[in-house]
Amino acid sequence: MAAGFIVFMCIVVASKGIDINSLKLEQVVMLGRHNVRTPLTEGLEMYSSKPWPKWNSTAGVLTEKGLRFEGYIADYISQWLDSEDFFEGCPQKDDVLIYANTKSRTLESARAFAESAFYNCNISVQHYANLSQFDPLFLPVFHNKTEAFKKQIAEEMKRHLSEMNLTESYAELGRILNIEEADICKKLFLCDLNSQQTEIVLEEGEEPNVNGPLYIANAVVDAFIMSYYEGRPMTEVAWGQIETDRQWDLLAKIITENQNIRFKLESGAKDIASPLLRYMFNIFNDGKPKFALLVGHDSNLNSVLTALEFKPFERKLQFEPYPIGGKIVFQKYSDKMGQYLKVEYIYPTTKQLRGGDELSSNNEPQRIILELKGCPISPTGYCPWSEFLKLNEILDYLAASGKSFHAQPITTVRGDPL
Ligand SMILES: *[C@@H]1O[C@H](CO)[C@@H](O)[C@H](O)[C@H]1NC(C)=O
Ligand SMILES: *[C@@H]1O[C@H](CO)[C@@H](O)[C@H](O)[C@H]1NC(C)=O
Ligand SMILES: *[C@@H]1O[C@H](CO)[C@@H](O)[C@H](O)[C@H]1NC(C)=O
Ligand SMILES: *[C@@H]1O[C@H](CO)[C@@H](O)[C@H](O)[C@H]1NC(C)=O
Ligand SMILES: *[C@@H]1O[C@H](CO)[C@@H](O)[C@H](O)[C@H]1NC(C)=O
Repeated sequence: MAAGFIVFMCIVVASKGIDINSLKLEQVVMLGRHNVRTPLTEGLEMYSSKPWPKWNSTAGVLTEKGLRFEGYIADYISQWLDSEDFFEGCPQKDDVLIYANTKSRTLESARAFAESAFYNCNISVQHYANLSQFDPLFLPVFHNKTEAFKKQIAEEMKRHLSEMNLTESYAELGRILNIEEADICKKLFLCDLNSQQTEIVLEEGEEPNVNGPLYIANAVVDAFIMSYYEGRPMTEVAWGQIETDRQWDLLAKIITENQNIRFKLESGAKDIASPLLRYMFNIFNDGKPKFALLVGHDSNLNSVLTALEFKPFERKLQFEPYPIGGKIVFQKYSDKMGQYLKVEYIYPTTKQLRGGDELSSNNEPQRIILELKGCPISPTGYCPWSEFLKLNEILDYLAASGKSFHAQPITTVRGDPL
């Protein structure tokens, strides 16, 4: 009891009394989302008879703008690392890991990042060897195959569905689409998104998903948002019909609910995110590489944040719940007293994305300090590293689940450089 109290006091003193000027940045591990891409869903013509903007490439591919903008984010991060004296010149190859999912948008984002952040340093992107498979590390599926678990998840998804209220959002979207004139109304008799129920879709080996109005609305709003980020004329963003922030908020609520229902699952996020969590905690435990960037998807950021139980935070100047190009940045600092964790969500605002200007200390992306429930932070945002590593208990929980988790070999760098 007494010993526990002393340890507790030391932690309090250590985290409150940090002299931030004497802190040294020792390790950076980022979990990021790829940059601006073409809309994910093809065949949107079904949902409106108005002319849809054409894209140069197929669905879900990084655009040229996305490639350029990821470079700007990398420049910004690299300037920050320089200000912390993190690397001297080019890093040693072993000090850096840039690892991307096998989708072209994640690979290309990672390449753009590597080339800009470590310019002329010949840092290559690592990936799972078989490029025609979604890397199991990033695949947001359930690993516990028991009926009981599936039932538990299905119930939570259904509860989220029953709690969501998209009445106004659907009405606004229907109006923008003029859905009554669309094929979906004329041929499939869905003339009002509020007239049907969304269903959950839960199949082994597949991402938890939805079917019905939420699926359709999410696909359409995704296309609007990407057109907006891409910087297309407003006449090519929802046919010029989104004129107010309130309208964007209504529409963005759709993609937020889609993420919430599918991945923000109290009962499932630890399971879904388990391969990534193992991989990341292995890097934290080893203390190397010094710098790691994992490039995945919004589903990865969502499930990892949910599994680690971060406190809710305010996401400013963005309408996406997990903004494109955004990165959750785990930072390890040390001073004479000990080691600390700071976690920031660094992401570009909607306006920065649309404007497409370079980022710098004069045009900073958002940097939101995050706090883990299990590791309270000091006023300046630090919590004791040792407390953070105790969250490894999450991994004990996962380990107890044994063979049903097909964790990949963790320290082996896989695949050929891109
Ligand atoms: C399509 O490609 C052309 C030529 O490369 C480019 O000028 C144009 O901006 C691209 N449009 C879009 C929407 O990506
Ligand atoms: C770049 O790195 C690769 C291995 O990662 C190596 O094969 C190649 O020779 C390097 N190129 C230069 C110019 O250093
Ligand atoms: C790569 O994955 C595809 C799709 O699952 C599969 O058909 C193919 O055999 C795999 N290739 C190798 C070399 O394993
Ligand atoms: C849903 O929200 C609308 C306002 O946007 C409200 O009028 C309606 O009563 C709500 N429906 C339910 C079931 O809470
Ligand atoms: C799978 O989930 C069920 C229901 O939550 C749980 O009782 C069981 O322990 C889990 N199995 C594994 C291997 O984690």
